[in-house]
Amino acid sequence: MQWGKQVITTESAPGKVILCGEHAVVYGQPAIALPLPSVRATARIDAATPGTGIVVDAPDVGERWQLTVDQTHPLATLLRLTFAALNRTAPLDAHISLRSAIPIASGMGSGAALGAALVKAVAAHLGTPLPPADVSRLVYESERFFHGTPSGIDNTVVSYEQAIWFVRGDASMTPPRPPTIELIDVGQPFRLVIGDTGVRAPTHLTVGGVRERRQRDPRRYDSLFRAIGALAHTIRSLLAAGDLPALGAALNRNQELLAAIGVSSPELERLISAARAAGALGAKLSGGGGGGIMLALAPASGAATVTQALLDAGSVRILETSVPS
Ligand code: PMV
Repeated sequence: MQWGKQVITTESAPGKVILCGEHAVVYGQPAIALPLPSVRATARIDAATPGTGIVVDAPDVGERWQLTVDQTHPLATLLRLTFAALNRTAPLDAHISLRSAIPIASGMGSGAALGAALVKAVAAHLGTPLPPADVSRLVYESERFFHGTPSGIDNTVVSYEQAIWFVRGDASMTPPRPPTIELIDVGQPFRLVIGDTGVRAPTHLTVGGVRERRQRDPRRYDSLFRAIGALAHTIRSLLAAGDLPALGAALNRNQELLAAIGVSSPELERLISAARAAGALGAKLSGGGGGGIMLALAPASGAATVTQALLDAGSVRILETSVPS
């Protein structure tokens, strides 16, 4: 790259919601996730004078630091993996600015989106843009260091930016089994209203809690996970058929199963009940649970009454997403 002209690269990745299958997906069951294009994480890279190294600025979390790839910081790990994938050996002199409108620890995939934006920006900045599968794999590799056993659904949906059917891979198999990633058919466009309890619940804590409870009662939990997996198949068929009332009922059933594995909360239940009472065709928590967000399937009459009911019931923010057919 020629120093002297200003080189700026900006890339972004969306938030996400899990329509069905969260938690069970960690245990090999299928899940469906959708991108949330209205909230995004962005990475901007400005070329810096030689010798500067990498300075990362993340004003939304009040952080600014000098990054070297041998650090253990999650982003340093991700950069190291990205440089290795790009066969980059020379040091990079750059100022990296990370911004995100995705609420953290709320089930919207903020960490994965920030990672995907960073990988895409670095790759594009170095003149070798990466396809979604590579971006996703790199973000997954780095998340594994810090979150134990992520299923990989978050990095996948934010990298592909499409509604996906996802079954986790299995690295312990020989040869390792890659994840199943399929685009899903949507027979009838639909709209989701997303409410936020405002309660921060880091995913690794809710996932860890489920793991502990499963260790105490594996038969019960594995049967609940299988029921959630069966429901994911039903929901996929209902999406393809465009049967929104039946889809709503299936989302409600998924919520019952999530409550049974212990990841709902009084705040989530309040928002879910309010949405249903306001005419939502179905409602459930989305993501790790314990707090964070819920989603409601808007009725044909529109989303306004559901939105108002969620605000009245204490939702700290409302997001919406329309899923086209
Ligand atoms: O990042 P969250 O809170 O949307 O949760 C991801 C979904 C889980 O199934 C709970 C965890 C995982 O790794 O799939």
